[in-house]
Amino acid sequence: MKVLVVGGGGREHAIIRKLKESPEITQLYAAPGNGGIGYDAVCVPIGATEVDKLCAWAAENRMDYVVVAPDDPLAMGLVDALAEKGIPAFGPTAAAARIESSKAFSKDLMKRYHIPTARYETFSDVEKAKAYLNACDAWPMVLKADGLALGKGVLICQSREEALVAIEEMMVGGKFGASGNTVVIEEFLTGPEVSVLAFTDGKTVVPMVSSMDHKRALDGDKGLNTGGMGTVAPNPYYTPAVAAECMEKIFKPTIAAMNAEDRTFKGCLYFGLMLTPDGPKVIEYNCRFGDPETQVVLPLLESDLFSIMRAVTEGRLKDADVKFSSCSAACVILASGGYPERYEKGKIITGLREGQLPGSGATVYHAGTAQKDGGLVTAGGRVLGITAVGETLPEALTQAYSAAKEISFPGMHMRTDIGVRALTAEQ
Ligand code: AMP
Ligand code: GLY
Repeated sequence: MKVLVVGGGGREHAIIRKLKESPEITQLYAAPGNGGIGYDAVCVPIGATEVDKLCAWAAENRMDYVVVAPDDPLAMGLVDALAEKGIPAFGPTAAAARIESSKAFSKDLMKRYHIPTARYETFSDVEKAKAYLNACDAWPMVLKADGLALGKGVLICQSREEALVAIEEMMVGGKFGASGNTVVIEEFLTGPEVSVLAFTDGKTVVPMVSSMDHKRALDGDKGLNTGGMGTVAPNPYYTPAVAAECMEKIFKPTIAAMNAEDRTFKGCLYFGLMLTPDGPKVIEYNCRFGDPETQVVLPLLESDLFSIMRAVTEGRLKDADVKFSSCSAACVILASGGYPERYEKGKIITGLREGQLPGSGATVYHAGTAQKDGGLVTAGGRVLGITAVGETLPEALTQAYSAAKEISFPGMHMRTDIGVRALTAEQ
């Protein structure tokens, strides 16, 4: 079978390397892919949001199946458009992707169906939003742009003054474009965060191994929010008791709510959870695999990913084999100096052979690289993700960090404390 994966980051590389193990797949394509993905799949120079071009290419080249990994093409209806051409795809329809593409929608859904989340109000009138903030007496408060904002649309405001400036920037100044026209203002929650990715065909929900992201740029959770600087799996805070509670109070009710709204969700649903003193609550939903969560979750998957994906599309997930190893995985991101703000591209990467580190026991997932003159150069903020699997988390971390030492490029930045919080929790 010929399979196309849409996207070009570390998450897509992890999906592609897992799909490569599938005996049924004869040829893998990526659109647009990247320098490192080019060693594992044929890269097609079409952007992930070029819906019409992607559909036409998939039809002309007779793709048997398409995996749509990023949020934008899902929200734009790529899965719907492929279905019209008779091409089955992994991922939700645009109607179901709304669970991520509109925070106002997802918050209202949780309220209507009694799914635990932070208390909130939604505003599309800046004066009303300001009046609400002026009346707030518990700080910090959290401001969220309604639409997609490259993971940057969430602001935690420590004071009324800060919040009033931020709301003006979002709703009047156009800081997040049209995504900020409507804003959700919600209570600040505390507790450890857990990412749970789950397969669902709209009837059955099968959570994958849990994970922990490290969103801030610098050690000690300092610096700016990024797309994610590293991950570990499993997440030690996510005990079997917490998992059982999440299944009953969050996962199953969410699937049922989407069905009741006529927005049946099929694909990978990402639950961003906070384990608060009042129990687990939903911080956000994503309508796709997380990045860089996928880079630690899929290496622990022992079953055939392609079989699971097709079972999801065809509504037979109940009978699918979904088994995870009991090992631990760690992923350390190597980023360009300056990320998530201004950074340079085109730096020569040394230490890799055909994009990998043979003999190191680690896997290199490429997030932002390009092939140039027979070598690899940087082409994004997050450049590489180094994943290692071990019997224990300390083993996985040691291996990932020692592999990372073999790679360099000018300005390279990584956090040195990925997994430290998880190790403390384990004791
Ligand atoms: P999101 O893009 O919704 O995942 O938000 C980004 C980050 O902001 C989350 O991973 C949390 O660390 C933080 N955050 C979002 N909402 C809240 C909240 N209500 N209380 C505390 N922290 C939050
Ligand atoms: N790692 C968070 C995300 O994928 O949105």
